[in-house]
Amino acid sequence: MTDPSTSESHYFSSNPPPPTLPQHTAQANAFVTHHHAHSRRVVLLTSGGTTVPLENQTVRFIDNFSAGTRGATSAEYFLSQGYAVIFLHRQFSLLPFSRHYSHSTNCFLDFLSEWGRIGEGDEGEDGGAATPDVVVKAKYRREMLSVLRKYRKAKEQKLLLLLPFTTVTSYLFTLRAIAREMRCLGNEALFYLAAAVSDFFVPPDRMAEHKIQSGDVPESTSGASPGGGGKKLVIDLDPVPKFLKRLVEQWAPEAMIVSFKLETDPALLLKKCNQSLDRYAHHLVIGNILATRKYEVLFVEEGSAQWVRLPTSDDKSGGSEEVEIESLIVPEVIKRHEKMLLKRAATG
Ligand code: PMT
Repeated sequence: MTDPSTSESHYFSSNPPPPTLPQHTAQANAFVTHHHAHSRRVVLLTSGGTTVPLENQTVRFIDNFSAGTRGATSAEYFLSQGYAVIFLHRQFSLLPFSRHYSHSTNCFLDFLSEWGRIGEGDEGEDGGAATPDVVVKAKYRREMLSVLRKYRKAKEQKLLLLLPFTTVTSYLFTLRAIAREMRCLGNEALFYLAAAVSDFFVPPDRMAEHKIQSGDVPESTSGASPGGGGKKLVIDLDPVPKFLKRLVEQWAPEAMIVSFKLETDPALLLKKCNQSLDRYAHHLVIGNILATRKYEVLFVEEGSAQWVRLPTSDDKSGGSEEVEIESLIVPEVIKRHEKMLLKRAATG
């Protein structure tokens, strides 16, 4: 079996860093330095899915389902608890705050209306009718104002740094660089790894430079598919080395590290979470099942497993229908981070 540190070094030396790396590293450095000076805790939150390009000049790529809901929602709750947030996210996935008005069934224009009718004697600059104002419809105003105020506070106090990635390689290079920048924070740093990271990729030496042409795809030797004319595109993927171990042991040895584990088969969830804890020796694995991830998650730590669930309709006791599970997950994570800080302070 290959030594994990060898496969990691090989990964970084054989794949090109993203062109944005120097800029993103400098941004992370400035952000961390600023919040460190203000003794503020910093969470690196990863969100959305990584892609696996099939061509160097990429037309086609392998993707996954994640829209970044978990990450974008969690970021808001971390901000509300006083953390500064580095939001390492898939480009064009959901973002904190704007998520309330994007990717929804409503177009953002559906939240708006015109106010002030044209032709009421209030003339515009060109002497014609004045342009009416565009305002938020009354029924959405209260909620939008609340979101707007939180968004402005995060912006004005520079509490949120948005750093995008697209491919699994750009994600890993940037994760490593930010983790190194965060080392000065010691155990005040928290990693909350909610991104759905590809497990397989096409290594550069097997990657097509240009768009794969259907005419160039060889005849299949394993039987023709109906309508396929005897051709099959077979994609040969290598495993992406597991970087969690490296993060725990070398990139961020003092930080609290929380990973997520996604499964589709409930019978496997606990076993897989425990396996992950054993393998990487980090602090907490939050397990979730694809179909129920918005209602329940499983917190797995050394020696314990505990479900965190939204109240069901029977025991909601008049509570809001709109409770988000991240409003329960994030305080539970922070509780554990605080416990860890106290313990380390006590032991020097
Ligand atoms: O965006 P949403 O729709 O809200 O969905 C949220 C979510 C389901 C994606 C999220 O809650 C979640 O479960 N994210 C992790 C899913 C996942 O990719 O699990 P995994 O088994 O591939 O990885 C487990 C952990 O190993 C991850 O924390 C990852 O950081 C780490 N990993 C993964 C691959 C790799 N090569 N190296 C790693 O270290």
